[in-house]
Amino acid sequence: MAKALGVNHIALIVSDLEKACEFYEKELGLEPIPAFLFDYPTAFFKFNETQQLHLTEWDDVFSFRGHICIQVDDINAIFFRMKELGVIDTSPWGKVRQLPDGPIQMFVRDPSGNLLELSCAPGSYIDPAIFEDEYFQAGIYVSGRNDFRGYKSKEATLYHN
Ligand SMILES: [Fe+2]
Repeated sequence: MAKALGVNHIALIVSDLEKACEFYEKELGLEPIPAFLFDYPTAFFKFNETQQLHLTEWDDVFSFRGHICIQVDDINAIFFRMKELGVIDTSPWGKVRQLPDGPIQMFVRDPSGNLLELSCAPGSYIDPAIFEDEYFQAGIYVSGRNDFRGYKSKEATLYHN
């Protein structure tokens, strides 16, 4: 049987390509790389040697809860900058949290309305001011649905080394 190997790229639909490029390049430090010669507005960025982010401008609908999770190197700087920009969105998944294995988990909207989860590797230094912040809440997100289907474990992690 064939096997999926990994994520090559994520394509996000944006409403304004230039605004989106500025956000991903300036705020998240992504490096622009050439896109193919498509006949529509699109921009490619490099996360690392094997993963890319593609932005493309179309009229489309945005998911309320669907998101991509991006690991960042400095979650403290990101938290305070995103708060300053006013783009932290607590409506789909609650406040900024610390996951049981250590990473901070926070959700922001890009300028087009795409939901991004930003997190850091377990063991990363976390500024204690985040734990005191109005946007922070202890414990994992509780939806109140009481529907426990799915494969779950106390040993779960986002980061497999
Ligand atoms: Fe997530």
